[in-house]
Amino acid sequence: MSLTIRPETPADYDRVFEITEAAFRDLPISDHTEQHLVNRLRNSTAYIPELALVAELDGEVVGHILFTRAAIVGSDREWESLTLAPVSVAPPHQRHGIGGRLIRAGIQIARELGFDNINLVGHAEYYPRFGFVPASRYGVRCAFEVPDDASLLLELKPGALDGVSGVVRYAPEFEMGH
Ligand SMILES: CC(C)(COP(=O)(O)OP(=O)(O)OC[C@H]1O[C@@H](n2cnc3c(N)ncnc32)[C@H](O)[C@@H]1OP(=O)(O)O)[C@@H](O)C(=O)NCCC(=O)NCCS
Repeated sequence: MSLTIRPETPADYDRVFEITEAAFRDLPISDHTEQHLVNRLRNSTAYIPELALVAELDGEVVGHILFTRAAIVGSDREWESLTLAPVSVAPPHQRHGIGGRLIRAGIQIARELGFDNINLVGHAEYYPRFGFVPASRYGVRCAFEVPDDASLLLELKPGALDGVSGVVRYAPEFEMGH
């Protein structure tokens, strides 16, 4: 079995829609519209083609991840950030390390592109293995009410988050309905 991580292309869009819908279908914390969110983000200025990745297993696309432009807004300045969301693995292929491969590949590319940090809201028990810590450790807050340990932040360069504090401003597409 060979797993390739590569940027998505228009030929992948229908399959990515299908995977995203299926991955979130049974997730109680989901509003089950993530597949539309992916389409909105793709058409937004927050979209970064190098950070829209698919996982291809023996020629079949089975996973997808997006990292989009965001900011951390402090009292008198703001810092560039990236939001990791959504990440989806087709249900039959979950828990085989594919999500991890997508996340690690994206982190590496984000670092190479010069980004300083990545924010996300997600499973508190999953993301720490990639180095994410509660955003509150840096005085960074999510723009909406979430459990403290679900709002996470990853520093991509040592010291990059020194002095950073504020509220995460996500791409506006996260707040629009489909
Ligand atoms: C979360 C997800 C992207 C992880 O990808 P994956 O390929 O299944 O994950 P990996 O094989 O790399 O890692 C497995 C670990 O993921 C974690 N995990 C997977 N689904 C999880 C869930 N619903 N809740 C909490 N942790 C979860 C577990 O810790 C699991 O470890 P375990 O098998 O030892 O219990 C994938 O399961 C998925 O698409 N889930 C549904 C959509 C979703 O939850 N997206 C993320 C929203 S924050």
